[in-house]
Amino acid sequence: MKTDKTFTLRNDETGEEFKLPVLDGIEGPSVIDVRKLYGETGYFTFDPSYTSTASCKSRLTFIDGDEGVLMHRGYTIEELTENSTFLEVAYLLLEGDLPNKKQYDEFEHHITYHTLVHEQLHKFFQGFRRDAHPMAVMCGVVAALSSFYHDSLDIWDPKQREISAHRLIAKIPTLAAMAHKYALGQPFVYPRNDLNYAENFLHMCFAVPAEPYHVSPVLARAMDKILILHADHEQNASTSTVRLAGSSQANPFACISSGITSLWGPAHGGANQAVLAMLREIGSVDRIPEFIEKAKDKDDPFRLMGFGHRVYKNYDPRAGVLKASCDEVLDELGVENEPLLAIARELEKAALADDYFVERKLFPNVDFYSGIILKAMGFPEEMFTVLFAVGRTVGWVAQWKEMIEEPTLRIGRPRQLYTGPAKRDYVPIDKR
Ligand code: SDX
Repeated sequence: MKTDKTFTLRNDETGEEFKLPVLDGIEGPSVIDVRKLYGETGYFTFDPSYTSTASCKSRLTFIDGDEGVLMHRGYTIEELTENSTFLEVAYLLLEGDLPNKKQYDEFEHHITYHTLVHEQLHKFFQGFRRDAHPMAVMCGVVAALSSFYHDSLDIWDPKQREISAHRLIAKIPTLAAMAHKYALGQPFVYPRNDLNYAENFLHMCFAVPAEPYHVSPVLARAMDKILILHADHEQNASTSTVRLAGSSQANPFACISSGITSLWGPAHGGANQAVLAMLREIGSVDRIPEFIEKAKDKDDPFRLMGFGHRVYKNYDPRAGVLKASCDEVLDELGVENEPLLAIARELEKAALADDYFVERKLFPNVDFYSGIILKAMGFPEEMFTVLFAVGRTVGWVAQWKEMIEEPTLRIGRPRQLYTGPAKRDYVPIDKR
């Protein structure tokens, strides 16, 4: 936090010097506090993709990109995926500590008894074409939730914030499963209170009224892990979108919908769907060298989807957990020698042996293996980013809650470097 350390900024033109305070965090790089810079110097900082900008203080998640470390409230992602459940991680992110048994049971009860959506919401789906991308559906129906819950839109009331958080975490799997069923033309499957979060989600996605559906414990555990791995990731593009939307005091349902919209992009959460398309385009192990060269060719727009990361300059720890889960899930499903997995493994090996990728520290990220598991589970590729959103909703809600609870909450309003025309006189149309 506050330190007596400073940076001195010198204007070489005028010789003026400005002292900028340094703030220390618990882990990771310290920051130079530039909040007074414009007022004292008349200058803005310039950092268009926020590569060197800390947009907020946060206690939720810490990433060490060089070491490939991801922690939630001080617990490593490896320990959490090994020992925790997704709802336990959700509680940790929301409340700050792992719950004791009583706290967990109470939290799980709240979530379980909020999984139903209003029957009117079923009608929202009818307006979409059956071949609408499920992310388009999710953007719409999640924002529409705010029209059903006028009793929990006061963001300044802690109780209403808590109810909205529970509603969003509880209903996002129900809506995601509905989007999946709607695309298939199958009837919606209602949530069941006797199933845990991951089991319930798989049941709503894959059960049909015509016969009982048995949720495989191995697949439910794998799904729970996948949700943990996607829960939160510091100030990524979609989380920053949620924070900026929330800073205007928009309701939490609208803010989460804005996060879904941002996550959809292939450079972000849409990458898991793009990875499968890439592996299919490569088609066979012997074409990998050709595609490695394409990925390195500046004149070729082809990129290795699922590779590289703005923060990780080491192996994304989530990719390691997912790579290990691949075997477990494929064995459980009796999917022998999934060709796309063989290509993915060879592609990873080839890329990590190539200087281009090594020099640029381009390693597999969370999206590289997730799609293979989800495909094996029976999800269509269009649903992959929706599943990412199901996990990330916990992080978006926790980050939104943390921001609203900051006593210094102000609307986010970046400035710019104006490069348009200087003032000029209006020219009537007959003179142009
Ligand atoms: C997620 O931020 C988060 O935390 C996101 C996320 C989360 O949990 O929220 O982790 C989830 O979004 C993971 C990332 C998923 N996206 C992809 O897998 C898409 C493929 N990756 C790239 O688009 C890219 O790596 C980004 C977008 C992820 C990162 O882009 P950066 O940090 O802006 O990197 P860059 O474009 O500056 O690249 C640096 C160099 C460039 O070459 P040079 O100009 O130095 O010669 O690396 C090259 C790039 O051309 N490069 C790649 C590459 N990614 C970067 N070359 C080939 N294939 C790639 N995938």
